[in-house]
Amino acid sequence: MQLREALARAIQQLEDAAVGSARLNAEMLMMFVLGVGRAYLYGHPERELTSEEAESYAEVIAERARGVPAQYIIGHQEFWGLDFLVTPAVLIPRPETEHVVEAALDLAQGIERPRIVDVGTGSGCIALALASELKGADIYAVDISEDALDIAKTNAVRLQLGGRVTFRAGDLLDGFADDEFDLVVSNPPYVGECEADKVQAEVRKFEPRVAVFGGPQGTEVVTKLLQQARRVLKPGGHLLVEIGFSQSEKVREMARQFQDVDFVEDLQGIPRVLVARKSRG
Ligand SMILES: C[S@@+](CC[C@H](N)C(=O)[O-])C[C@H]1O[C@@H](n2cnc3c(N)ncnc32)[C@H](O)[C@@H]1O
Repeated sequence: MQLREALARAIQQLEDAAVGSARLNAEMLMMFVLGVGRAYLYGHPERELTSEEAESYAEVIAERARGVPAQYIIGHQEFWGLDFLVTPAVLIPRPETEHVVEAALDLAQGIERPRIVDVGTGSGCIALALASELKGADIYAVDISEDALDIAKTNAVRLQLGGRVTFRAGDLLDGFADDEFDLVVSNPPYVGECEADKVQAEVRKFEPRVAVFGGPQGTEVVTKLLQQARRVLKPGGHLLVEIGFSQSEKVREMARQFQDVDFVEDLQGIPRVLVARKSRG
């Protein structure tokens, strides 16, 4: 079968399965199977696929058609310009989480050897993005999932940042000393179990539950994180937490024991990252 025909069939199959951006998905998966760039697809529409290639392509298209996210099929996602390995053990890094990295970099400037902890590191994307920018920083990354930590550690090695981040298995900030960190950063699970039906089916069915759901209302993990962050932050240190799209008022109230409570907005103007300072006194 020719490449052009295989693509056309795949687009139809994905459209029939109501997968969004069917052409984009079909092309991305063809690039993955053939190990080529997009220009090749357009330059060689008459290229005959070998039977192995056609078979592999049919398999990955069938996976995508049943809702498996393309990133889990391909095994990669870009974040902060870095290439991260992703498996179903970790959340797929999202562009809005780059706001956490940006805000952390702003705050870390001017601190000679900032000490930072990333809580719920998943693929390691926040901690490793920070490590790639802050050569002198002391960075820790925690996750309750050992499987996620394995991926994060692999990413550290692949990105040549092994040794720059200390990975630990644990429940939030348990086990860290008082007044230890300049920055606590996190993209915690923040979707409520009560709103599971509003979550995209692909997320609900394929991304790890522990990464997505933050308790019955969605703010239970964040509540505990805020309490623990007040303990482990140095006086004057900052907490940065990604939140759900309608949670800012609730989180502002939860953060009332912090100072200078503010939110970074995402590109749609939605408050997305809590920034709060632990008082000095
Ligand atoms: C929303 S994901 C974020 C992953 C990654 N930081 C990112 O931004 O893509 C939340 C992560 O928190 C971890 N997690 C959930 N509950 C936790 C807890 N009590 N202590 C530590 N990590 C936890 C999950 O395993 C998951 O990797």
